[in-house]
Amino acid sequence: MSQLRVIVLHGVNLDQLGRRDPGHYGSGSLSELEGTISQYAAELGGRVIFEQTNHEGEYVELLHKAAERGNALILNPGAWTHYAWAIHDALELTGLPAVEVHLSDVKAREAWRHHSVITDLCIGTIAGKGPEGYREALQLLKSHLDQAAQEAAA
Ligand code: DQA
Repeated sequence: MSQLRVIVLHGVNLDQLGRRDPGHYGSGSLSELEGTISQYAAELGGRVIFEQTNHEGEYVELLHKAAERGNALILNPGAWTHYAWAIHDALELTGLPAVEVHLSDVKAREAWRHHSVITDLCIGTIAGKGPEGYREALQLLKSHLDQAAQEAAA
């Protein structure tokens, strides 16, 4: 068993949850979402660090430092997901297991939202499940770390 120390990186416009289209994103605020994620993490005996920025360079720098602060990542880069290749490259540098989460069902929306620059680097992608998607992401990461720890001990 290994302890999950996950960094949740919310990207552009995620600070505006509560004001954004509730049909896609629900009506809760970002701090409510973070409270829910913290509870999910506590159920798994894990710890969470939250970050949010509207500046792509800052998001990249948070990824540069991620491996010093945690052992797993959950990314919802917002609209950057669909075109920000610098985020792809920075994620690759972290060497950490990552899960991509979207509150809305991106594949059922406009065509430009169907492509993600980070999916190929993630152990899983969860979309369209609202806050519950973050629970699944935490479970995936916990299983991944537990399995890696077992393999290292064998
Ligand atoms: C989002 C989906 C993106 O297409 C959008 O630009 C967002 C949020 C989601 O959580 O559903 O800002 O990542």
